[in-house]
Amino acid sequence: MNKKKSVLVAAIFISAVLAKSSNAQQLYREKHRPQVHFSPKEKWTNDPNGMVYHNGIYHLFFQYYPGSTIWGPMHWGHATSTDLVHWQEQPIALYPDSLGYIFSGSAVVDKNNTSGFGKNGQVPLVAIFTHHDPKGEKEGRNNFQHQSIAYSLDNGKTWTKYAGNPVLKNPGITDFRDPKVMWYEPQKKWVMTLATKDHITFYSSPDLKNWTKESEFGKELGAHGGVWECPDLFTLNDHGKQVWVLIVNLNPGGPNGGSATQYFLGAFDGKQFTPFDTTTKWLDYGPDEYAGISWANTGNRKVFLGWMSNWQYANVVPTETWRNAMTIPRELKLKRIGKEMYVASEPVAELNKIRSKPVTLQNIPVKNSFDVVAKTGKVSLPARVDLNLEQLRGFSILLSNDAGEEVVIGYDEQQQQYFIDRTKSGKTDFHKDFAGRHVAPRLTSSGKLDCSLIIDVSSLELFADGGLTVMTETFFPTEPFKHIRIQSPGNTTIKKLTISSFRSIW
Ligand code: FRU
Repeated sequence: MNKKKSVLVAAIFISAVLAKSSNAQQLYREKHRPQVHFSPKEKWTNDPNGMVYHNGIYHLFFQYYPGSTIWGPMHWGHATSTDLVHWQEQPIALYPDSLGYIFSGSAVVDKNNTSGFGKNGQVPLVAIFTHHDPKGEKEGRNNFQHQSIAYSLDNGKTWTKYAGNPVLKNPGITDFRDPKVMWYEPQKKWVMTLATKDHITFYSSPDLKNWTKESEFGKELGAHGGVWECPDLFTLNDHGKQVWVLIVNLNPGGPNGGSATQYFLGAFDGKQFTPFDTTTKWLDYGPDEYAGISWANTGNRKVFLGWMSNWQYANVVPTETWRNAMTIPRELKLKRIGKEMYVASEPVAELNKIRSKPVTLQNIPVKNSFDVVAKTGKVSLPARVDLNLEQLRGFSILLSNDAGEEVVIGYDEQQQQYFIDRTKSGKTDFHKDFAGRHVAPRLTSSGKLDCSLIIDVSSLELFADGGLTVMTETFFPTEPFKHIRIQSPGNTTIKKLTISSFRSIW
């Protein structure tokens, strides 16, 4: 090669390297891209799927369409994490096939190799999912969704679909999907919780391949403003006793419109779920948590994560290269308030890994308005804000930018309600149901109040009263929010306010 040529080759090489690194820098830094929440590198996502912890790795599969930023033929995308905070996207795990699209479902660690898929002592991971046949749907049949399985012998890297699929055939129910499977130790069998249109059907199996119907639940209970989808069944500890939690996602019919997550508390005997009472409880009152379920195989700890969107407008939110993200993983615990029991959610402690040193302010009087950012001088968004009031009073927290856009979060003392108002939050005209003020009840009558906010570039999660009331909300300001102002109509004193910035997970 002559000198001129080699200089040219070197120049091309260097510019290719630079282009690559600047692409890498732009990736995950696009406008509205969440910095502390999982979202796929590109294209469409909805429900989290197959969440399982195995060999030190949290697997997060997700409804994924690699062909567009609009919902389409569903695949299972795949991401992994060792800490529930940093995610690495992996190759697509499951592709559509002759039986149809790959809809939502779960994954289990088959420790005893009941399925017989394990070879040479390798424990199989088994995914249980819905095969959705779009042709059958188009033809107006009522049996186009069946349950199928696939297994992995390399810790979730590659998957083989079972040749005998489907393993649970549709008996003629149009909405027959989203299997969540768990091992029921007292009877040494698998239990599948399946969403079957307007109720739940439980099935059991010795080997994940042969399923027997056990019982039905919920036709006359809970919220029924829409179709029941994406259920979950697990136990939480109440002072040494096991309480069964049955999660049922619902679309539409949520407390603030569209999709949302309700739950029931009760007993389960391997066959039947018996609720303690008939009240409808919501795991998250905001408009933007849906299809939330928990990780399998996490021992005594229950970690929940949902899709951070709403079917009302999920297909038209104003992002360009990707569409939609997941919530922060949340640890679930039971809490008693008087005679009632609730599931409370808190952001997982692992999030502290990406928090800057917290700035704490104490005993701050809030006459009219108080600017947290100006006061502390060194915080920026995304951030976590924790607030404690010694005396219950109404207040609001304003996120805003210099374009005059804002999101208002607060507590209305008269109505005893938390609220989030995104009416003036920036881009809202992509769907008529997006702009609005959303409310949630306060479930405790305690005279003190605490709340935590996880604020990302285009979302906000409110955990009030130790996570008893939770609200998730997305927004799309034309420029990033950077001010946090606290306001109170009365003479509130904030006992303690802690704020810390988050480092990006990307
Ligand atoms: C819930 C849902 C599921 C279904 C999947 C399809 O959001 O409708 O019931 O399996 O999405 O993508």
